[in-house]
Amino acid sequence: MVDERFYITTPIYYVNDVPHLGHAYTTIAADAISRFHRMRGRDVFFLTGTDEHGQKVAQAAAARGLSEQQHCDELHQNFRALWTGLDISNDAFIRTTDPEHKDQVRAALQKLWDDGWIYEQDYEGWYNVSDEMFVTDGDEIERLKAAGRVEFVKESNYFFKMSAFQDRLVSAIESGELTLRPESRRNEVLGFLRQPLGDLSISRPKSRLGWGVELPFATDHVCYVWVDALLNYCTGLRYLNEGTPADDQYGPFWPADYHLIGKDILTTHSVYWTTILMALELPLPRHIFAHGWWTFEGQKMSKSMGNVVDPNRLIAEFGSDALRYFVLRQMPFGQDGDFAAAGLVERINSDLANDLGNLASRVLNLVARDGGHFAPGEATEATQPLLDEFNAAAADFERDFADFGFAVALRRVWEVLSATNKLIQDTEPWRLVKERDEDAAAGHLYDEVMRSSGSILKSLAALLYPVMPRQMGVLWSALGGAGDLSDYRYTGGDRWLPVSPETLVEKGDALFPRIDAKSVPSFTERAEQGR
Ligand code: MSP
Repeated sequence: MVDERFYITTPIYYVNDVPHLGHAYTTIAADAISRFHRMRGRDVFFLTGTDEHGQKVAQAAAARGLSEQQHCDELHQNFRALWTGLDISNDAFIRTTDPEHKDQVRAALQKLWDDGWIYEQDYEGWYNVSDEMFVTDGDEIERLKAAGRVEFVKESNYFFKMSAFQDRLVSAIESGELTLRPESRRNEVLGFLRQPLGDLSISRPKSRLGWGVELPFATDHVCYVWVDALLNYCTGLRYLNEGTPADDQYGPFWPADYHLIGKDILTTHSVYWTTILMALELPLPRHIFAHGWWTFEGQKMSKSMGNVVDPNRLIAEFGSDALRYFVLRQMPFGQDGDFAAAGLVERINSDLANDLGNLASRVLNLVARDGGHFAPGEATEATQPLLDEFNAAAADFERDFADFGFAVALRRVWEVLSATNKLIQDTEPWRLVKERDEDAAAGHLYDEVMRSSGSILKSLAALLYPVMPRQMGVLWSALGGAGDLSDYRYTGGDRWLPVSPETLVEKGDALFPRIDAKSVPSFTERAEQGR
């Protein structure tokens, strides 16, 4: 086992939101990376959860006639259920209403107060409840006022001296102590930091909002929901660190290797969170990766537009593997992309049903019909170039996938699948198998083509497992892989996992059934209402 720890997080999602494709996207990416590293022997901690405090939650609970806690206890289950449906392998699920989280938030706030990083001041301004943020830009205020989305508040507030850390933050980004990805987001943050940085209001008076973590030094205030939420990345480690000495409170997993976020929450992470960590004298996360935005058929997905794509429906229709593959293959991580059902069906049919699924069925069915065993032997010039191509592609895949280049890594694997399909088309093993009684060379070629294709499929099952854990596990077992694929660990640099003549191959069901494009229902709320 490589002694390397790897800690990755997703944002903790607003408990009020109905989980949609955007939430699923970040979590699928974090899951794929976690599975990838676990298989390579790393000690992974993958954290996700729900953000449960704040005014929006309080209002929604009141509207339902429930206490805030009851409301959250019920709604956070939507996220848990979706992660189960998507085969998400998170090591812990944190809720900001967990008592241990709240205790640690209070301890962190107390430390900031004791160290002089917090001061009290009156504040008045416009507050945007749906984003849980004060708005300072004049045009923005007018726009939100017209939409009824801001309210004027005048109150006493506690402020965090964020401005004191501006220079240190700039040099942390410039020196590589903190890497912001992609490059365009790093530039955006550095641009933002060219203006003087203000201080951050970190409290709300209870008279306006009671639903949050009380400030330990001013119990008539609760903590600003973003500060409470960001601290989850440290407090979530308590699931691991019982018994950790007090002077090392977050244990060996801090700092995080990657915070995966959407581009909408870049500032809160790269400016608020990092400066809070500096004040707490904790190391900064190594990377923050802000991925792009999914639109739906060219439009922004939003509840009010009624075009929010429900991942549960996609899973029910196509299975979680297909959805996972699609989102990772379709849009380069970091860029924006568009979701359209037609594009999803097209990818499932061509990449999964055809290139991968058909190849697997052909190989498994031919071998199963012909005694059920791969013949032993060595590769000759008939298939050696293909095996070399696999090795080259596997090396590229390793490099690109580890670096979040999912789309490029997958495209490379599909080149190997195309070459393998071409080998099958060119050699026509279903013809060779009939000729082998009269023609020994045909028999040898048949054996070799089956063995090489089977070995490529088995090797690819392990390589593609982080993306499609379910069906790659099925393919792995069908080709004689030992044990559960999730327990498999690469031991050396080699990704080549040849089939064994001892394996008994049986006919199986199609890994990815073809979808009839005409029968595809729609996946958004509006379409549902219209039906
Ligand atoms: N609760 C805060 C995060 C606190 S983290 C300390 C929050 N929650 S959220 O429910 O609004 O989730 C935002 C995240 O969901 C985005 O950063 C992104 O990861 C994901 N997405 C939500 N909509 C999305 C798209 N349309 N496209 C891609 N991802 C998006 O913000």
